[in-house]
Amino acid sequence: MAATLIKGSEISKQIKEELKKEISELKEKHNLIPGLATVLVGEDEASKVYVGAKEKACKDLGIHSERIDLPAGTKEEELLALVEKLNKDPKIHGILVQLPLPKHINDTNVLYAIEPNKDVDGFHPVNVGKMVLGEPTFLPCTPHGILELLKRSSTETKGAEVVVVGRSNIVGKPIANMLLQKKRGNATVTICHTGTKDIASHTKRADILIVAVGKPKAITSDMVKDGVVVIDVGVNRLETGLVGDVDFETVKEKAKAITPVPGGVGPMTITMLMYNTVQSAKMAAGIKVEL
Ligand code: GUN
Repeated sequence: MAATLIKGSEISKQIKEELKKEISELKEKHNLIPGLATVLVGEDEASKVYVGAKEKACKDLGIHSERIDLPAGTKEEELLALVEKLNKDPKIHGILVQLPLPKHINDTNVLYAIEPNKDVDGFHPVNVGKMVLGEPTFLPCTPHGILELLKRSSTETKGAEVVVVGRSNIVGKPIANMLLQKKRGNATVTICHTGTKDIASHTKRADILIVAVGKPKAITSDMVKDGVVVIDVGVNRLETGLVGDVDFETVKEKAKAITPVPGGVGPMTITMLMYNTVQSAKMAAGIKVEL
């Protein structure tokens, strides 16, 4: 059985169309234009590409976007002062400081300085805490995108055995947390990591397998059961092109559904950032939101 592809590129287009409508209604009915500030410090090439893609998504959807590029030598105090200024700017509803930051800047200090109501990344500890408690808040964009992929591919999470491989703060921990919540997944969740004794013994039990380890072909077909739904978060740049963390060619023969790389989880991250920015603008204007 060859797997169905869960195409994030198409699902993200659908969500963007929904957002476009919502944004034009906000303009018409409330004279409200959502605004996102993106801050890039230094010359990291991959970061430049990501920030450029975020700016383009804003432009396509009608979101006001301000990009601030700072030199690699920027002092932490200077960056904190900029964050403070953006916190107070009423045109800006979302602030995104692109990671990684240069080594001399403490990224925790910077992320904690962002006003939680403008933290559209969902990285501030106040928002992380609310997310874990199941309270409405900005959900971090990549795991939020995974929830949408599961929902819009009609993958049942309730009662499912979900195995997450990877325990990063950006993907593994939050997606595991969300999927165990009654209202977001209601699944039975196992997290595997570098300290796990026998990863395959867990992954073989998975109805839904989510992999975010940053290692090409970390999951091979002997590690999954027939009919599994696979979400591959990996983006590994090899000479042959982009590949995920899952050995796609062999695993797709056993899976019921699988995300391709590229075109799977990747496009969802920026789309959910746009979603969070729109929700933030609505909150600032006292309009009811769905978080
Ligand atoms: N760098 C790589 N991914 C992300 C992200 O989702 N948010 C931020 N701020 N930086 C990143």
